[in-house]
Amino acid sequence: MANVTDREFSFGTADFERVRELIYERAGISLQAGKQAMVYSRLSRRLRETGHASFSSYLQWLERGNAGPAEWQEFVNCLTTNLTSFFREEHHFPVLAEALQLRRGKPLRIWCNAASTGEEPYSLAMTVAEALGPNADVRILATDIDTNVLATAARAVYDADSRGLTPQRLKAHFLRGTGSNAGSIRIKPELARMIEFRAFNLMSPQWSLGEAFDIVFCRNVMIYFDSPTQRRVLEGMHRAMKVGGLLFVGHSENFSDARELFRLRGKTVYERVGA
Ligand SMILES: C[S@@+](CC[C@H](N)C(=O)[O-])C[C@H]1O[C@@H](n2cnc3c(N)ncnc32)[C@H](O)[C@@H]1O
Repeated sequence: MANVTDREFSFGTADFERVRELIYERAGISLQAGKQAMVYSRLSRRLRETGHASFSSYLQWLERGNAGPAEWQEFVNCLTTNLTSFFREEHHFPVLAEALQLRRGKPLRIWCNAASTGEEPYSLAMTVAEALGPNADVRILATDIDTNVLATAARAVYDADSRGLTPQRLKAHFLRGTGSNAGSIRIKPELARMIEFRAFNLMSPQWSLGEAFDIVFCRNVMIYFDSPTQRRVLEGMHRAMKVGGLLFVGHSENFSDARELFRLRGKTVYERVGA
């Protein structure tokens, strides 16, 4: 790709390749070759806000360690893709409800990673409340690398016409905004209380997540990782889960070559095997 000169900042192939390397090192994300325009538009904002006149100067500033952790976080936040919705890939939720009912009466730990703006962990909490009641002894850890989406998730406020919510669920699990908040909904506190939000990078060498999980949702994030990275993450999941625990993955994610770790139990649902 030649330098594009009618843009506010010059952005050439070398700049794009540097961004690709940096986001791969930091977040494990393999950016496709065709994503130049996306990278330009998302990172231009950072150049403006930090007063850099070119991509090469901004990237050098980051790489030389002068920028500090807050700017690295902004860099990562800009390059993640956060698409999600309530009850996305709906077929998983009856499977989850059944798994919860089978474990009724036991304290349960669920991990929702790559939780994005919160629709997914709140869908899990709604399913728990529907399957076991709102006072069930279930804790949900919801994590993501992107601190902006986590802040949105923790606010728990959404549009009343958000995709994926039935009128029954709207009524049962949300408070409706009034006055200047009309058109907004907020998840009920008894559901919000089930969830702890925390920043977590799946590339971390140390996974200090506490007790082993009974159920893990890891959906639509591994698609951004290459095969060796996926393998490493799956090994981490395996260590973080109980034997017999269930792993729910996204519609285009297939881990059948890791059979010694996870056995396919249903459509994009795996069971953690072995010791
Ligand atoms: C497309 S969203 C998927 C959201 C949700 N799981 C779903 O399926 O609806 C992908 C999420 O993965 C997160 N992510 C990307 N790389 C990550 C990493 N290395 N560690 C943790 N989360 C990551 C992004 O910030 C983003 O919120």
